Amino acid sequence: MSVNGGNKETLLDIRGMEVHFETRRGIARAVNEVDLTLYKGERFGLVGESGSGKTTLILALLRMIKTPGFIAAGSATLDDGTDLLKLNREEIRRVRLKRVAMVPQGAMNSLNPVMRIGDQLMLTIREHAEDGEIPDKHTQLKQVEELFYRVGLKPAVARLYPHELSGGMKQRACIAQAISLNPQLILADEPTSALDVVVQRQIMQTLRKLQNELDATVLLVGHDMGLMAQFAERVGIMYGGKLVEVGPVEDIFHNPQHPYTQLLISSIPNFEIKGEFRGIPGVGLSLLDPPTGCLFHPRCPKAIDRCKSVEPQLKEVAADQLVSCLLHEEDQHAPAS
Ligand SMILES: Nc1ncnc2c1ncn2[C@@H]1O[C@H](COP(=O)(O)OP(=O)(O)OP(=O)(O)O)[C@@H](O)[C@H]1O
Ligand SMILES: [Mg+2]
Repeated sequence: MSVNGGNKETLLDIRGMEVHFETRRGIARAVNEVDLTLYKGERFGLVGESGSGKTTLILALLRMIKTPGFIAAGSATLDDGTDLLKLNREEIRRVRLKRVAMVPQGAMNSLNPVMRIGDQLMLTIREHAEDGEIPDKHTQLKQVEELFYRVGLKPAVARLYPHELSGGMKQRACIAQAISLNPQLILADEPTSALDVVVQRQIMQTLRKLQNELDATVLLVGHDMGLMAQFAERVGIMYGGKLVEVGPVEDIFHNPQHPYTQLLISSIPNFEIKGEFRGIPGVGLSLLDPPTGCLFHPRCPKAIDRCKSVEPQLKEVAADQLVSCLLHEEDQHAPAS
């Protein structure tokens, strides 16, 4: 199914987002002028090599960036006008889970090890209930069982502690927590990376089913291109904190426009869109000492002189396809592909 910006409603509009880390050796722009529109009910995949800023982007949306990191600029506006980047502590607490939820990278660490799974979920339900509307214990338990059912866990899991669960079950418990208040946006940061392939596929199927039931938007971060190709309708590619290409999944895989995306797709082992990618050949980018012009130019096989000094902007090059590359800018006639 193609996702057309023209007839899709916007859920979240990210503009000029900047997240910086202040280190002893200078400022690292981990998220660098990112513009991204997410539509209602879409499955969006975010890809990029390690350190490209994917987790930072997700954490910033939930205002979970810790020092020495900070949101330096930008906005992330939900459809009702709420700017996630400007909310105060109490306001963001209300938005979390109810509107935006996260399935974290490494589910293992996000559950409380000394609390039974059912109790953790009941606590979440109580904490987020409106004042005076806390359901009684029996109702809370029923809600937990219903959540478990939806994520494929047996009711008896409620009595277990995290260490008694397999990796897949823990991840399902985290997903149950994430969907407990019917969020419209689910941010899933490599939700299956620590699991074996069979369990990975099952968890992705569950996520897909829930996304469909909730009609939620899912932003999925991942390295596994096979999973990405199966799950996502649109894909965004990050390099050095910047979004360099955004487009429908078929175009990204079969007709990539940015030289980095092209290398990345061609570097996937046996090109059946199987396997993982962890990067492309060449010296990685240092965010503390970034090159001038296009961040990718030192590694780019198609770089021209102008790439050393002029910073490209993300521009629409075809329907739904955005690319940040000087080779695609209007005054150039040499296409990158
Ligand atoms: N605590 C920190 N202190 C300093 N810099 C940080 C810190 N956390 C992240 N960064 C910077 O932010 C950049 C982006 O990190 P991030 O974790 O968002 O990357 P990622 O794309 O999620 O990588 P991965 O695929 O490995 O999860 C890093 O390259 C690093 O420069
Ligand atoms: Mg990450």
